[in-house]
Formats: sequence, structure tokens, C-alpha cells
Amino acid sequence: MTTLVIGANRGIGLEIAKQLSDRGDEVVATYRSNPGELNELGVDTIEGVDVRTDEGVRNLIEGIDGQTFDTVYVVAGVLKGSGLGHLDFDTIRDLFDINAVGPLKTTEALVKAKAVTEGSKIGLLTSRMGSIADNTSGGSYAYRMSKAALNCAGKSLAMDLQDDGVAVVLLHPGWVRTDMTNNNGLIDVDASAEGLIRRMDSLTLEETGTFWHTNGEELPW
Ligand SMILES: NC(=O)c1ccc[n+]([C@@H]2O[C@H](COP(=O)([O-])OP(=O)(O)OC[C@H]3O[C@@H](n4cnc5c(N)ncnc54)[C@H](OP(=O)(O)O)[C@@H]3O)[C@@H](O)[C@H]2O)c1
Repeated sequence: MTTLVIGANRGIGLEIAKQLSDRGDEVVATYRSNPGELNELGVDTIEGVDVRTDEGVRNLIEGIDGQTFDTVYVVAGVLKGSGLGHLDFDTIRDLFDINAVGPLKTTEALVKAKAVTEGSKIGLLTSRMGSIADNTSGGSYAYRMSKAALNCAGKSLAMDLQDDGVAVVLLHPGWVRTDMTNNNGLIDVDASAEGLIRRMDSLTLEETGTFWHTNGEELPW
């Protein structure tokens, strides 16, 4: 199995790369500028992959150098506070760029480069905070809106790539103790990554365009 993990220098992406590498998969892992613990894994890495820029997406495509992947995890994402009364254009645009437009442009580039082909699976790391049906607590406008937009993009990608035999799903990792949550949360990164890998391993093309919790539960949009 050959897997690409985008945004893999820390947090959930690093743990996915580690677990896949430990079980013998061939892993290509990307980061922006700081590889963190990635170099210790002994996996192939690509530097300069910032999903919000054309240059970052170009670096990705140059770095993969014609390889194709069985599985792709697009993990890169950011969380910034944006409660009512504290909204500003820059924060909202930033989160849209990184959490929604970035993963879409990255996936488009992988499709164009034929890095995903018949039988490939793409998992986009979203959040259940992007679920409109599941929103019972409000707030977090920029993050919720950006992840809802990613869900929307992921569903269209699933429809567009279905005839090519490429499955696309949206993945919620749980509330995970990482930098993003200041190490608060309900589960550790190893349990989160384990569940995500299990979901992607068993994913079929018939399930394309769906939204999953790392615990195996299907989530509402
Ligand atoms: N932790 C949770 O409870 C939770 C819950 C729901 C969803 N998620 C989602 O799961 C994913 C991973 O979260 P995490 O907890 O592992 O977060 P994290 O520890 O903060 O790591 C974020 C990762 O995204 C990368 N990244 C940020 N901006 C990027 C950009 N412009 N281009 C490329 N990479 C970029 C970071 O790289 P740098 O080191 O270069 O910044 C880092 O590798 C995110 O999409 C997040 O929204 C997390």
C-alpha cells in the first residue's frame, strides 16, 4: 500500500504517517517548513507543501514525481476562535483558504497529475463542527463555516470522481488531544489515527461521498 499524508509533521497527520509506516506501508508525508518528528519515521517527505498557495500545491506535485497512491489523507487544517462579537474578515478568509479551498485545490492537483487512479481512496479531515445537522452549540463561525465548505467540496469530489473509481470521504477524527486543542480532548492521537486508518482501509467505492467519525459511526451533514 502506498499512502500520501498531507500535513504530517505533527498531530493527527504525524500519527497516521507513523502507524502506516510501522505496519509496512510505503508512506509519503508532506509538511510546510518544519518537519518536526517526521524525519525520525524514515518515510519519504516533501517540503514546502502549503495547501493555501499555488506554490505549495506545485511543490506537492513536483515532490510526488509521478507516483500514484492507494490512499491519500488530507489532514492539514487550522482552528482559530471566531465567536459572535469577535468576527473579522481575515480570520474567516484564512480558515476558508486553509480548511476548504486548500484541500480542494490539492485534491484537484492530485487528480490532474493522475496521482489517484481507479481504486484510490481520499480521506479529507473535516470536523463534526462542520455538520449543520449536528450543531447544537453555535459559535466557532469561521471554523464551522470552513469545514462545512470542505464537506460540500468533498461531496462534489466524490460525485465527480466516482466514475473514475476514486472514493472520497469526509473524516472526523474525534476531539483529539493535539496542539489544535491545547491538548484538551476526549481521545489521544493514537486512538484517533487508528480509527481513521481502519475506516479508510475498509472503505469501498459504494460508500463514496459519506461522512465518518473515527469511531466508525456515520455522521449527518
Ligand atoms: N484535534 C481535534 O480535536 C480535531 C477535531 C476535529 C477535526 N480536526 C481536524 O483534524 C486535522 C488535524 O488536526 P490536528 O489536531 O492534528 O491539528 P494540529 O496538531 O494543529 O496540526 C495541524 C497540521 O496542519 C498543518 N497545516 C496548517 N496549516 C497548513 C497549511 N496552510 N498548509 C499545509 N499544512 C498546514 C500543520 O502544519 P504546520 O506545523 O506547518 O503548521 C500541522 O501539520 C485538521 O484538519 C483539524 O481541523 C481536529
